[in-house]
Amino acid sequence: MKLQFENRDGPVVVTGGAGFIGTNLCITLLEAGHEVIIYDNLSRAGSEKNMQYLKNCYGRRVRVVVADIRDSSSLLSALEGASMVFHFAAQVAVTTSLHAPLEDFAVNLSGTINLLEIIRRLPKKPLLFYTSTNKVYGQLCDITLKKSGVRYVPRDPLYTGGVSESRNLDFHTPYGCSKGGADQYVLDCCRSFGLEAVVFRMSCIYGQHQFGNEDQGWVAHFAIQAMKKAPVTIYGSGYQVRDILFVDDLMRAFSLAAENIRSISGCAFNIGGGIDNTVSLLELTQMLGEINNSEPEIRFEKERCGDQKYYVSDTSRFFNATGWSPLVSPREGLGRLLRWLELRRAGKKYTVV
Ligand SMILES: NC(=O)c1ccc[n+]([C@@H]2O[C@H](COP(=O)([O-])OP(=O)(O)OC[C@H]3O[C@@H](n4cnc5c(N)ncnc54)[C@H](O)[C@@H]3O)[C@@H](O)[C@H]2O)c1
Repeated sequence: MKLQFENRDGPVVVTGGAGFIGTNLCITLLEAGHEVIIYDNLSRAGSEKNMQYLKNCYGRRVRVVVADIRDSSSLLSALEGASMVFHFAAQVAVTTSLHAPLEDFAVNLSGTINLLEIIRRLPKKPLLFYTSTNKVYGQLCDITLKKSGVRYVPRDPLYTGGVSESRNLDFHTPYGCSKGGADQYVLDCCRSFGLEAVVFRMSCIYGQHQFGNEDQGWVAHFAIQAMKKAPVTIYGSGYQVRDILFVDDLMRAFSLAAENIRSISGCAFNIGGGIDNTVSLLELTQMLGEINNSEPEIRFEKERCGDQKYYVSDTSRFFNATGWSPLVSPREGLGRLLRWLELRRAGKKYTVV
């Protein structure tokens, strides 16, 4: 997918650039002719494979700094002269945050403040893009639900359009708190220090280069399990609903955010598949069976802490600001993810489409 990013002087730094979203963004930027610096400690399983892939495809045009987001001196050297920073490096799992809240806090909140402090002191301040989460809105227990087929639907028609940014923040779980805190710090740095930044509060993103597991990246995890003919564990009834967004649509959103930065800086936007791209966990497993003849066997366990029963993003604020809306349906996106998994399994190169 060829996208244009406004041409500014200096390389683009992508923290967490060897992760799932980072790798897709690096490809998008490199294809658009930018110089890219990946800043990643490679702690996520699969990130080394992504980094190797990027190096093989783009050689010296991509520079890799293997370091931690909390390491101020390495971060400062990477950021000097940068035109844009996409901050993705994070402890990404709610489950891990419940076992190790201090580490989650240190990486997600302290790590982000470390980054903001460095940017604030740079003579030439890069644009900042921060990826927050729908978890900042809490468990949404006030949205009463009923069952319809194998999914939940809201009883109150007020919520059929999804959750908008006017919803009160209600951080839940250490991950929700650390990401939500960082989200607020980024926005405040625009107010207090005049930084140019945008926050995306994202729901469930999926696609190529995602090494999903049971703790994070459930769509890819289900697809991987289905291909391996292995079972998946569903925590709760499986009627939970998510608005899933294919990663290529997210790349278009980043590109439009960069293009419109002057009018949207200092704002947070809910970004997800929206009302037209919702699936329940059970519907997604059925879809996997239909596309790939490999519906995974399901095992059920007790619902997990902080798990929203129904989350759908109302993306109209970002649509009104930039004209963006998702183009890839869950069925098409899932097909593309399965194709990437197949090519990877066969040791063949995946070509950007
Ligand atoms: N994927 C989603 O559905 C989703 C949804 C909402 C928000 N987000 C946010 O988007 C961002 C990217 O998510 P992703 O799905 O690509 O995750 P990912 O785990 O694939 O990528 C994160 C990357 O950060 C790196 N990293 C972790 N800790 C680090 C540290 N201390 N220092 C430097 N690098 C470190 C990891 O090695 C990994 O490569 C994260 O901030 C995540 O919270 C993702």
